[in-house]
Amino acid sequence: GGARIGVTGLAVMGRNLARNLARHGHPVAVHNRTPARTKALVEEFGHEGTFLPARSPEEFTAALERPRRLVIMVKAGEPTDAVIEEFAPLLEPGDMIVDGGNAHYADTRRREAALRERGLHFVGTGISGGEEGALHGPSIMPGGSAESYAALGPMLEDIAASVGGTPCCVHVGPDGAGHFVKMVHNGIEYADMQLIAESYDLLRHAAGLSPAEIAEVFRTWNTGRLESYLIEITAEVLAHTDAATGEPFVDVVLDQAEQKGTGRWTVQTALDLGVPVGGIAEAVFARSVSGHADLREAAQGLPGPARSAPAAAGSGFADAVEKALYASKIVAYAQGFHQIQAGSAEYGWDIDRGAMATIWRGGCIIRARFLDRIRAAYEADPATPTLLTDDHFAEALGDAQDAWRDVAATAARAGIPAPGFATALAYYDSLRTRRLPAALTQGQRDFFGAHTYRRTDREGSFHTLWGGDRTERPA
Ligand code: 6PG
Repeated sequence: GGARIGVTGLAVMGRNLARNLARHGHPVAVHNRTPARTKALVEEFGHEGTFLPARSPEEFTAALERPRRLVIMVKAGEPTDAVIEEFAPLLEPGDMIVDGGNAHYADTRRREAALRERGLHFVGTGISGGEEGALHGPSIMPGGSAESYAALGPMLEDIAASVGGTPCCVHVGPDGAGHFVKMVHNGIEYADMQLIAESYDLLRHAAGLSPAEIAEVFRTWNTGRLESYLIEITAEVLAHTDAATGEPFVDVVLDQAEQKGTGRWTVQTALDLGVPVGGIAEAVFARSVSGHADLREAAQGLPGPARSAPAAAGSGFADAVEKALYASKIVAYAQGFHQIQAGSAEYGWDIDRGAMATIWRGGCIIRARFLDRIRAAYEADPATPTLLTDDHFAEALGDAQDAWRDVAATAARAGIPAPGFATALAYYDSLRTRRLPAALTQGQRDFFGAHTYRRTDREGSFHTLWGGDRTERPA
């Protein structure tokens, strides 16, 4: 006994989480497959709190107070299953295993069900905020049983970020709910980053601004409604000069964006749930396109506008981009929250979307002033089918109309790819359009495959005899 909680897996995230716990006065058992890391942690940071180093899984589990709280911080996938198999036999009914990695929620559901059979609680927990967040206060999204949250919640809320005294940690829902929400968080993160990247590209190539000038634009935006961690670091990255060449850092980085999988999972899941998340999908595809060097090379000679001549000079353009960015961001988040609603309904999680916005206000990568607006929108109407119709967001979307369309059109005319802006606008127009051409799609499906259609004026399904006299029959 002695340790209130234990962390196994002491790479940077695990190490920082253990330090965060210790700094908050929670005696923490620490373990790593290779004991050198454990030793290094205690040597370097032992003064920050009470660490109980363990050399073996047996020593580790023996160090934990009962019911045991054991946090796994290993690479998501195979390693998680391996660690669970190593530790579960040493645990007793009522003990809790917390998985703080970026696991797929389907894996979390499987693990939770299997461990529940053995009397153990499995708490799939989304943790966002990178290394700094883990140390100084992340946003924490725990799934699993309400019983396990009662035993773990206070400690997690203690080490989480907080905004206005409210911790950025709440019980998300049963089994995979926490990891599902973390997955969508990352999908939104991709969409937000893509919109910011497009804004930069437009300011650079349509307005002709330098990276340093654009850094200033982002700094200004960061004092307004777009204030957020991602906008803040964008200014930092753009202002940075490469030491080796003296060039803007952004000009010496290979323009091929990588991804570890959570954005892709978000889109795959959205497809299965039937939720349109174009903003996230385009962001994943944009990274994918960037990585296809062979295709890009082959396409170099294709005709189209050159990006050299500024197409949109003047300070008015930056303001227009700000509006287009804000409007597109509203759409991307509305789509992400729709996905949370759909996942919650599919799996019976009963996720409180306002609570998710609340715990994303601080600690996580997408933390932003904006999230408080989303919290307020769900407070005003907890069951709203879309954030777009919230009073504040509807007003912002209205105010953005000319700018949003001008920016998207400028991008198209100048040959600057802006898939994030374009899909956001298309989604917005699709939702507000009274009649969509989906009616024609239905007609085509009925023509070639007798797939039937419904009518606007009568109940039922119908088929037209396209190959015959074109009379209509009830299907
Ligand atoms: C977070 C981040 C974190 C990770 C990203 C990076 O919330 O702290 O999302 O989980 O750094 O997922 O993802 P990619 O490597 O896929 O861009």
